[in-house]
Amino acid sequence: MKKIAVLTSGGDAPGMNAAIRAIVRYGTSSGFEVIGTNNGYSGLIAGEFRPLGPRDVSGIIQSGGTILGSSRSKEFETVAGRQKAINNLVSSDIEALIVIGGNGSQTGAHLLNQMGFPVVGVASTIDNDLYGTDQSIGVDTALNIVLEAIDRIKVTASSHHRAHIVETMGRNHGYLALTAGIAGGAECVVIPEVEVSPEQIARVIEETYSRGKSHCLIVVAEGAYWNAMRLQEHFKENPSLGFSIRTTILGHVQRGGAPTAFDRMLGTRIGIAAIRELASGRSGSLLGLACGEIEATPYAEVVSHKKTLDLSILETAEKLAR
Ligand code: F6P
Repeated sequence: MKKIAVLTSGGDAPGMNAAIRAIVRYGTSSGFEVIGTNNGYSGLIAGEFRPLGPRDVSGIIQSGGTILGSSRSKEFETVAGRQKAINNLVSSDIEALIVIGGNGSQTGAHLLNQMGFPVVGVASTIDNDLYGTDQSIGVDTALNIVLEAIDRIKVTASSHHRAHIVETMGRNHGYLALTAGIAGGAECVVIPEVEVSPEQIARVIEETYSRGKSHCLIVVAEGAYWNAMRLQEHFKENPSLGFSIRTTILGHVQRGGAPTAFDRMLGTRIGIAAIRELASGRSGSLLGLACGEIEATPYAEVVSHKKTLDLSILETAEKLAR
């Protein structure tokens, strides 16, 4: 195997560039010719390839986003779309593909691999909802961005004796909200995995007020039924909670930061592992972090499992915030 391609797909995640850099530099020094694909699976279907050498990835390890661009492609979900992608790869003499991305992207990679084209995956999504890795590239940076926002919001919340609802990303997974909530000292954490009523949340706010605290912080995951907008609407009609309420939806700010040292290292380590996997003739697996080591999990296992969340810490959130 000589010529390989790399693409980034789905939501960008800080540390993707570190992975691209490692793939290009370690790949080149391992005897591969590395081809970049622009804009994820859309670019693969359009045949948007460009050669990447060591100098093309200079000065990117510290940048968020992805120098290759990314997309969410509906066409790639069809067999015809994936066949077009394979035809483009084969006619460019590319023999394997590395897909840097999250859940949807790795499902697409699995389907491509099942159609006979060798693919390996690099676990990357701020949501941390990908089975086969303890932590994905981008999670640590996103978490730190959320925490910085929470710390700032707490300052103004205390000054004005308010309750603040802060909504994190995470799609249908509560990892970002739960971890940021605990690390940020939130009084209440609302995640999709655990049903909670607005009455329960109101009770936490009232109790926090009557304990004499200067603020109450409620961190909610975007995927929870009682997300920020719904809670805001609900509490507008029920204003007697002690604290008045303000709402912040953090949104894409969470994806835009310069990668932390952890994400630069994780991107680099998984990128190197992807090259080693292909160099030893293996494919059809996702590379991720397992108990501190980089390990490969077969795609069939990845796509047939849902990543679960350790909820034991959630029970302590209220007690920790007393
Ligand atoms: O998967 C990453 C993620 O940021 C999710 O947390 C969020 O729900 C989604 O992508 C947003 O997607 P887009 O950038 O396409 O609006």
